[in-house]
Amino acid sequence: MAINKLIDLDQYSIPELMEILQIARIIKRKPEYYQDSCHGRVMATLFYEPSTRTQMSFQTAMLRLGGKIIGFDNPNNSSVSKGESLKDTIRVVSNYADIIALRHPLEGSARAASMFASCPLINAGDGGHLHPTQTLTDLFTLSETKGTLEHLTVGLCGDLLNGRTVHSLIKTLCRFRGNRFVLISTEELTVPRYIKEIMDQAGCAYTQCGSLTEAIGDIDVLYMTRIQRERFANQEEYERQKGVFILDAEKLKRAKYGLKILHPLPRVDEIAVEVDDDPRAVYFDQTEYGMYARMALILTMLDGSEKRFDARPESNTTRPCTNPRCITQTEAYLPRLAHKDRRYSVCEYCEHEYEK
Ligand code: CP
Repeated sequence: MAINKLIDLDQYSIPELMEILQIARIIKRKPEYYQDSCHGRVMATLFYEPSTRTQMSFQTAMLRLGGKIIGFDNPNNSSVSKGESLKDTIRVVSNYADIIALRHPLEGSARAASMFASCPLINAGDGGHLHPTQTLTDLFTLSETKGTLEHLTVGLCGDLLNGRTVHSLIKTLCRFRGNRFVLISTEELTVPRYIKEIMDQAGCAYTQCGSLTEAIGDIDVLYMTRIQRERFANQEEYERQKGVFILDAEKLKRAKYGLKILHPLPRVDEIAVEVDDDPRAVYFDQTEYGMYARMALILTMLDGSEKRFDARPESNTTRPCTNPRCITQTEAYLPRLAHKDRRYSVCEYCEHEYEK
């Protein structure tokens, strides 16, 4: 299980994922057994974008394993504010830390950083692209509260276009048997085409729906998400989308008794506060499960890890990615990497599709 750079959870096979969840389960039962497991090791949390849960759960995970932490939660307080590139920051911090958790607002930043890190590196969220450790959190939450990761009807509601947690979760749950999805969003905020293709290729059934009230009675898991103001080009577009889907006690009357309500948080107004005390709401427990999942991941990635650079690929295309939120737009030294599918070039950093 020697993953040195975790960009996407699909780098792990299903048995490997189950093994990480099993480690998380054991840690949750007997945390004292692990309190010195990372003694003498240092984690750097480099957060170029605001975070409460991911940053603090990584930090507390490392501290509870007996390790230490360094890093920044505001790049303006680091030499990034003087114009230091991602490449240089990562190379330098690799010399200080045994493992890096990176959050960055640009899509594909984790893949870019992985080329310059000599220590293990974890994608802690790259723009609207992926958030694999949130998915690990979600899987652990589901396996602990629902008892299975298979044969579930999962409703995902809100900003499915920009929601990196949604993309990572669909990609992973597609790999488990018998899951199907109900995508609840406005037409503008439905999942990107490449996610639909992944569901099609996996033979995973999905339906699209514009009404939470209509969908809620059929689902086993409801994954609510925030409309993400920071991903919109302007305030007007955000205003048009916000407040469309709100889960409240009235809608919950139509839901199954065994429904589990997850949310990666932060919440704005998409779940009414009255839902918090419903036994089906597990989104605050989810934050604790995330800490155990990250403890398990850190242990797994540090186990037998060594300082090394992975081979750096050379450009394989002359066409630049056209996604304005791709890391290649600002870090000009990055090799241009894309693969071709039937009709498009697909950027290997952010997975954006553009004309060949
Ligand atoms: N779920 C999540 O990523 O939350 P933060 O942005 O607070 O880390």
